[in-house]
Amino acid sequence: MSSDVVTEPHILVLFYSRGGKTAELAETIADGILSVGGIDARLRTVPPLDGDAPAGDYLYCEPTDLASAAGLAMGSPTRFGTMAAPLKHWWEQTTPQWLNGDLVDKPACVFTSTSTLHGGQEATLLSMMLPLLHHGLVIAGTPYTEAELHTTESGGSPYGPTHWDKDRRPLSRDEMRLARAQGKRLARLALALANDRNGAPA
Ligand SMILES: Cc1cc2nc3c(=O)[nH]c(=O)nc-3n(C[C@H](O)[C@H](O)[C@H](O)COP(=O)(O)O)c2cc1C
Repeated sequence: MSSDVVTEPHILVLFYSRGGKTAELAETIADGILSVGGIDARLRTVPPLDGDAPAGDYLYCEPTDLASAAGLAMGSPTRFGTMAAPLKHWWEQTTPQWLNGDLVDKPACVFTSTSTLHGGQEATLLSMMLPLLHHGLVIAGTPYTEAELHTTESGGSPYGPTHWDKDRRPLSRDEMRLARAQGKRLARLALALANDRNGAPA
């Protein structure tokens, strides 16, 4: 059935950030998403658990932002080798979306920031994928066809974009390029999978 109101699909860029570094990655991934065209990037954060304000001036994610997304990029600072508690807490309130299968067959990626080079980026990214797999999302990493993955001396990994937050420095050129490429890849996959869902027989 056709509708008079045509809304652009969106990718939900959902993240928690206290110091702003995960937010920088989120903004860069969003740039990559928007560069594809025909799909929006909706940046959202989650409430803190300790009353301290999260970085930036981002809206809190509403259930409808999640359920209606064509894809998901999820980011968190590494906290003792895994995602920050506010984000984990937020996911534990998504049982209705899980029961409804709202995220099944939609693409997702994960991203993180650490203060130390070997402080758990890959462990964090891999553990962040687990709830997304339960929700039926299709995980997309960063392929080694991205040249910077071979040369980076800061962040960036095949498991998803990362930042090495050494001395609060900004994203490196390699980190930025890899985050942007991940956004582009996610947007292309989201559009392709949305077309497939729309074309599939009921
Ligand atoms: C409670 C806590 C635990 C942390 N655990 C780690 C860790 O395991 N490895 C690491 O390298 N950095 C760790 N950090 C540092 C943050 O991951 C790092 O500063 C990150 O860039 C912050 O991201 P944000 O600016 O988006 O808040 C931790 C910070 C806090 C507050």
